[in-house]
Amino acid sequence: MDARTARSLEVTFPSGEERPALGLGTWRMGEDAGQRAAEVRALRLALDIGYRVIDTAEMYGDGGAECVLGLALTEALREGVRREELFVVSKILPPNASERGVQAACEASLRRLRLDCIDLYLLHWRGGVPLAETVRGFEQLQRRGWIRQWGVSNFDLDDLRELASVPGGKGCAANQVYYSLSERGVEFDLLPWQQLHQMPLMAYSPIDQGGLVDHPGLRAVAEGHRATPAQVALAWVLRQAGVMAVPKASRAVHLRQNWAARELRLGESDLAQLGRLFPPPRSKRALAVR
Ligand SMILES: NC(=O)c1ccc[n+]([C@@H]2O[C@H](COP(=O)([O-])OP(=O)(O)OC[C@H]3O[C@@H](n4cnc5c(N)ncnc54)[C@H](OP(=O)(O)O)[C@@H]3O)[C@@H](O)[C@H]2O)c1
Repeated sequence: MDARTARSLEVTFPSGEERPALGLGTWRMGEDAGQRAAEVRALRLALDIGYRVIDTAEMYGDGGAECVLGLALTEALREGVRREELFVVSKILPPNASERGVQAACEASLRRLRLDCIDLYLLHWRGGVPLAETVRGFEQLQRRGWIRQWGVSNFDLDDLRELASVPGGKGCAANQVYYSLSERGVEFDLLPWQQLHQMPLMAYSPIDQGGLVDHPGLRAVAEGHRATPAQVALAWVLRQAGVMAVPKASRAVHLRQNWAARELRLGESDLAQLGRLFPPPRSKRALAVR
């Protein structure tokens, strides 16, 4: 895979729409009312810095993360951010993903987000509802204008193939999975398949929920770039075409460092060193799930 250039730090969706490859996650937000004001401030700062892709879910904080995000988005829109620039991603819990259930769940998410439309609505993981039924529900949401695109999360290749075989299933716009230096299993077959089908892979936990920030091997690579291990971990994920990363950060310093990681270009020797530390998969591995 060719390394990306500065200008290609965008992903292209099957619709042709291009969006920034670096977004922001919100898991663990909205869980504690006492943290709400600080979380809204963090999200406002993120929007000021330039983040435009924000990932959330009805599950996070039991709707609390969507509420916090809704408050931050309302302020940002009032202060001049244009709605078209934003790319808001939310996810529906599997038990809610029946044909009728999606209508109620999406309506509740929209209310919490204070938006008329979600840009990308994902099935959080595969549950008991038949895929064809969920797809029918998503298509109805699209017709109502409540979502622009739909996709899935935590789907392995077999699941994506099955999805593509149900009516409307080829309309899937993205698959969000666990992908980081320490979890490279998707490179064996899932990532190449998604790249072939121009279906962006959204990498969650790209710095391993903070687990990579003190890694001594990453630190050695980072020092050569006057960067941090977390920035190297992000730059490594972001260098690949068709990959979007949604690291979560609430501290201002982390938000800024992660944004700056878009400029970090890893050289051949860095990539070789990282490949020795975190070898690529040589056979199929079960999809890692958080
Ligand atoms: N679809 C799914 O099933 C699924 C599963 C998991 C996650 N996700 C999504 O993916 C997002 C990201 O994944 P994640 O939250 O699991 O893990 P992550 O983004 O890999 O790591 C987040 C942790 O790293 C810290 N951090 C962020 N930037 C840092 C930096 N530059 N230096 C040092 N530490 C840094 C954060 O601290 P602070 O917050 O203190 O700044 C936080 O503790 C989630 O928030 C969620 O939106 C989706």
